Amino acid sequence: MTAAEEAMTMEEAIKAQLALAIEPQEFDSPEYIKDPFPLYKRLRDHHPAYQDLFHNNWVVTRYDDIVSIFQNNDDFDRAEYDPKGDYEFGKKHVFGPNILEYGNSDEHRFLRNVVADQFVGNRLQTFLPFIEQIAREMMGRIWAKSADDIAAGFAKTGEVELVSQFTTQFPIRVISNMLGLPREDEDTFVRWYQHLIEGLGFGGEHLARGLQARNEMWDYLDPLIRRAEDAPGEDLVSRIVHAEFRGQRMNADEIKGFIALLLAAGGDTTDKAIALMWYHMLYTRPDQFEEVKKNPELWTNVFTEMMRYDPVVHFQYRYTTREVKLHGEIIPERASITLLLGAGNRDERVFTDPDTFDIFREDLHMGRELRSGRYPDGKHGHLGFGMGQHFCMGYAMARQEAIIASTRLLEAMKNPRPKFPTHPGVTSPNLGSGGFRSPVELWVEFDTD
Ligand code: HEM
Repeated sequence: MTAAEEAMTMEEAIKAQLALAIEPQEFDSPEYIKDPFPLYKRLRDHHPAYQDLFHNNWVVTRYDDIVSIFQNNDDFDRAEYDPKGDYEFGKKHVFGPNILEYGNSDEHRFLRNVVADQFVGNRLQTFLPFIEQIAREMMGRIWAKSADDIAAGFAKTGEVELVSQFTTQFPIRVISNMLGLPREDEDTFVRWYQHLIEGLGFGGEHLARGLQARNEMWDYLDPLIRRAEDAPGEDLVSRIVHAEFRGQRMNADEIKGFIALLLAAGGDTTDKAIALMWYHMLYTRPDQFEEVKKNPELWTNVFTEMMRYDPVVHFQYRYTTREVKLHGEIIPERASITLLLGAGNRDERVFTDPDTFDIFREDLHMGRELRSGRYPDGKHGHLGFGMGQHFCMGYAMARQEAIIASTRLLEAMKNPRPKFPTHPGVTSPNLGSGGFRSPVELWVEFDTD
């Protein structure tokens, strides 16, 4: 090899290395917000434990690493603050004291155990008729609006903007109904919920509005909680008020904090899940949508593959409790770790052809999620609900809601199709508040005759 050729090869090698380097600002770029997956792949392949000095954070992207961190409570905690220290829980949190703040502590175990079984199994079954009823009522409204639009000459066929007319309203109405809150106050709940969500991710006036919504909601809940104490009904407020774990109940502030959390954790996520399922059917796999139209039971596969391919929640945080070694890097004690769930779900070490959305894939467990992530059929689960001690408490409810809503929508709309041939795509409007992703708008057209 000549000296010139050698120099060229060196230059190429340096260029190749530079192309693989990660700039922390990439996490804030418009390209990343639109399509984070190329960066996820570079991280997985070349920087599996990446120290982001700009955001003061370590980023973990491989499936197996994320699973083992979720399951390792000795070295990694969810709490930013020490539950045994002097931080006053709930003081700075827009929901008040709540399960999200208590890390891996006994307080967390108590709060979780006292209510977790309300959202699964037989107890969840008793709420399914509500979910059905609300889905039907909302479909009725969409139909009535379409009929009016056609009559007024605004449209030739039925059409709906699914995000504003259905998805952002449905889960929050389901939860307020389950809680037994008066139906005439649903719109007030939708407003509080929107302010709580904004207050979570952004500081300043958003936080102030979120705290004000929280205070208004707490005042509103006080008499309802007292009534549930004296004369319990079948609603979720009564069940939460009377639920016990080892003879102990939640105190009033914990109950109110939990209800505020439910509105956000169960509303803001499930609405995006339904929008993502429809987006990927309409635009990513219209061929597989035809299969779903023939066999609506496949919505369960659509839900699971969506939770793998582009889950609603892309980030979760953990904090090291001691120094930890990962892929040759030394991560110090109390370091912040971002687990990129969306990256782990596209790990080619686990899933074949991971960048293809395929509701028939054979390497993903398609049924109900498990907290341990281990499936008897030997298949892998998606990471979209987390795993281990903080595994999503509403996983079964979210799945049921998304499937019931999608099935009813499909029944009510004949020949649903995209209104526009192209779509700007899925985005992360509030990446700073945990990386929730979804389409901002989704116009669907359907036949009305
Ligand atoms: C598709 C919809 C949903 C998604 C994507 C989702 C996602 C998640 C994720 C990733 C976690 C784990 C957090 C961590 O490991 O730190 C979580 C926890 C949680 N979720 Fe969900 N969730 C959804 C629906 C719901 C619903 C419907 C409810 C309530 C009824 C709910 C209540 C909760 C609660 C209370 C926790 C905290 C559990 C704990 O810390 O022990 N979620 N969720």
